[in-house]
Amino acid sequence: MKYRSIKGVQDILPPETFLWQFVEQTARDVFSLYGFKEIRTPILEFTELFIRSIGETTDIVEKEMYTFSDRAGRSLTMRPEGTASVVRAYIQHSLNQLPPPQKFYYMGPMFRYERPQKGRLRQFHQTGVEVFGLDAPEVDAELIEMLVVFLERVGLDGLSVEVNSIGCSSCRPGYRDRLIEYLNKGVSDLCSDCQRRYSQNPLRVLDCKVPTCKEYVKDAPVILDFLCEDCKDHFNAFQSALKKLGITYRVNPEMVRGLDYYTRTTFEVTSSALGAQNAVAAGGRYDRLVEEFGGPPTPAVGFAVGMERLIALLKEKTQMPDQCPQVTFVSIGDEAREVAFQLVSRLRKEGLRADMDLRSASVKSQMRRADKVGSPVVLIIGEEEIKRGVFKFKDMKASEEREISRDELIGFLKDFFNRDG
Ligand code: HAM
Repeated sequence: MKYRSIKGVQDILPPETFLWQFVEQTARDVFSLYGFKEIRTPILEFTELFIRSIGETTDIVEKEMYTFSDRAGRSLTMRPEGTASVVRAYIQHSLNQLPPPQKFYYMGPMFRYERPQKGRLRQFHQTGVEVFGLDAPEVDAELIEMLVVFLERVGLDGLSVEVNSIGCSSCRPGYRDRLIEYLNKGVSDLCSDCQRRYSQNPLRVLDCKVPTCKEYVKDAPVILDFLCEDCKDHFNAFQSALKKLGITYRVNPEMVRGLDYYTRTTFEVTSSALGAQNAVAAGGRYDRLVEEFGGPPTPAVGFAVGMERLIALLKEKTQMPDQCPQVTFVSIGDEAREVAFQLVSRLRKEGLRADMDLRSASVKSQMRRADKVGSPVVLIIGEEEIKRGVFKFKDMKASEEREISRDELIGFLKDFFNRDG
């Protein structure tokens, strides 16, 4: 084999692509019920955009970005996530001048140079949403409701929702100082990454997956004990809105998320089948980011679903949908082959998935192929049928045969498939 795909970068093949289309369509349907419209942003952005939003001392920026210089020597990065680009577009196109709230959804590939493993890829896909212009805690709850509705509608169960608040610029510094104090005492127990960066970005240590770090942070002070009155009120109102919407959740005071732009609400959705470390979806509030990027003060909140993780879960429990031809022609002789060729074209224009074997194969092998691809209807046509202006219609499921005249063919097939669904 001369060329293979890059490690951590996957082809998605049929029939799995049908599952992707189903999930994407369900996302579009559900999100539009909640007033979201699609936004498409580029894969390439100036590197600075991600450094400033995700944070200089995060894993993503420190070691996972696909960054390169273009021919003009500008540093560009292939987006590792979608939020930063949507915020950039929101400001660039003055979308704040439209009546609030502005609600967007997007779907597409993201790129992170992570160690490839189950549920962790270098090119992966997210379906995400962002809401601008609302700071009401009910919005956060509504978003989680929408996420749960979407995940349940595609067929996922065993979901758990974890929520937290990581405060704001007035209460987080106090917590940060206390956390640094705590970490400082046990700094030699931390991994080398955490030892290096705990004083700049101590919240990252809480998120570290290295067992010794995990053990040490177990007794660390928790952010919820340090929230200011406004953040506390917001978190309480958010939780009561979740209850009103009938969403079961758990408060996880240790969940800080791996991106620096968050303020107040953060959340993750996991499925028992994936293991707790692998969230299917995650998100939170980022009330300062629009302003930090030069826009007007604009509260915002969003989430993103990891599509590969979601599809992996669905693959385990749902039968993969597939799309075989509805009608396969089997032709006997050259003249019949011509007739079939034109009829395939006609049926396709009538909205029926029709096909024939163009290899000039024997009747036996044409029949075998029709059976293998799973066509529910086979139409057989030979010299005799042409003369009499009929087709031999074979209902493959019922193993029944009958003759249909050429004139009634299209109407008959349409009725047949309408009846069969
Ligand atoms: P995130 O937690 O970095 O958040 O990613 C969201 C989801 O993307 C994860 O829960 C996971 O399912 C999936 N994901 C992340 N990295 C990988 C990977 N290497 N391989 C496979 N799946 C992965 C964000 O990206 C934020 N932009 C979400 C957000 C939107 N927050 C506010 N608005």
